[in-house]
Amino acid sequence: MLSVAILAAGKGTRMESSLPKVLHKISGKSLLQRVIDSCVELKPDKIFVITGHKSKEVQKSIPNDKKIHVVVQEPQAGTGHAIQVLCKEVKKHEGKLLVLNGDVPLIRPSTLERLLYLHETKNADVSLITTKKTNPHGYGRVFLKGDFIERIVEEKDCNDLERENLLINAGIYCFNWGNLSEIINTLQSDNNQKEIYLTDTISLLKNSLSLEVEDNEELQGINNRIQLSECEECFQNSIKEKHMLNGVTFINKASCSISEEAEIGKDVVIEANTHIRGNTKINSHCIIGPNTFIENSNVGLNCEILNSTVYDSQIMDYIKIGPYSHIRPNSKISSHCKIGNFVEIKNSKLEDESKVNHLSYIGDSIIGRSTNIGAGTITANFDGQKKHQTKIGRNSSIGANTVFVAPINLGESVTTGAGSVITKDSKDNSLAISRTKQVNIENWKKGNPDLVN
Ligand code: UD1
Ligand code: MG
Repeated sequence: MLSVAILAAGKGTRMESSLPKVLHKISGKSLLQRVIDSCVELKPDKIFVITGHKSKEVQKSIPNDKKIHVVVQEPQAGTGHAIQVLCKEVKKHEGKLLVLNGDVPLIRPSTLERLLYLHETKNADVSLITTKKTNPHGYGRVFLKGDFIERIVEEKDCNDLERENLLINAGIYCFNWGNLSEIINTLQSDNNQKEIYLTDTISLLKNSLSLEVEDNEELQGINNRIQLSECEECFQNSIKEKHMLNGVTFINKASCSISEEAEIGKDVVIEANTHIRGNTKINSHCIIGPNTFIENSNVGLNCEILNSTVYDSQIMDYIKIGPYSHIRPNSKISSHCKIGNFVEIKNSKLEDESKVNHLSYIGDSIIGRSTNIGAGTITANFDGQKKHQTKIGRNSSIGANTVFVAPINLGESVTTGAGSVITKDSKDNSLAISRTKQVNIENWKKGNPDLVN
């Protein structure tokens, strides 16, 4: 029987934030979510999340899973108090209780498995993860006696000599739950922080073991924004290294961020200041960036996207986008299209080889194959209450500065005159034009209004 308790009730004072600490994010996922995800891999029987500070906000972030139970700790009197509350709330204290601080987000399931294995094979009362840090500041120091842990002293309670100990407590423990519950209520708060420490259980239990692992980012606890930023950087570096080993070039990797779900094909070049978010797939031989943001989108083969933003859209093969384009959700740009400078496209489908090269807004539209949209063309899709569709058939040639007042439906091979406001549907092969004829006034002299009439 394996139960897990994740400590997530603290305020996180050192974060200087109105957001509870465990809801701060690393690469788009909260610290708490990352800890939950690692624990789920172990297939435990139950997961208890201890919440307290802004409990409702933290609870809302927890995924719906019948294995996950929330326990509210009120007030937040320390990590030991959190487990006292858990032991009171849950009646049966069977098997192993794995306790994790909610602010150690990069812990790997494989390391947790090693801890469980040590605990079981040595029949321990408690086993915990330790590491030697070159700068152990802020962590509890672990003191060994022979093969066992004698005690843990918190940084704030250390004397000068104790502070020199580099072996620290990572905040991840496996307890024999039955034995823990016998001593948990004897914990006191007679320390410099006036808190009930979970770490004080170690000297009260007999068989306390240390699993010392090499120092790496997975044990980094997050107590302030500097540590948050260091963890983000470590995590991003590992994502980018994975892609580089798979054949992706980063021109300036420090300035880019890539979500962990993103898939990137071979020989893709990611230029500086490019951010690939969410569930995005970039296929081979694309050049993305500089200064590009792509979220939850699919980009086909051999595309070039420069200085542009793409959300929730499908970009097929051999497409050039940018500079300065904005592809908004639910758009599909088919192969060999060109989307040019300062163009916004929303909820629209562009069929193969169509071009929207300059300064346009295309919303709620279907643009046929090989149609050219002239510079400055706008679909007026909103009548103040509803959005309407614009349909333009294939091989059409839309004059510069055309306004389509939707709903509107143009046939195939239609031409519109530059500067037209199109309000009526038109058939295949027609010219649609709506503008006043040009008048040339001869011998016009500035300042002589009589000549105008
Ligand atoms: C804790 C450990 C320290 C260890 C470090 C590792 C204690 C006393 N100290 O210190 O030995 O080296 O983690 O990162 O445990 N929490 C509650 N209820 C509370 C207080 C805290 O649920 O009443 C939660 C917090 O939300 C947090 C976790 O417990 O997720 C750890 O608390 P924190 O205040 O960060 O402890 P540290 O000072 O980092
Ligand atoms: Mg901490």
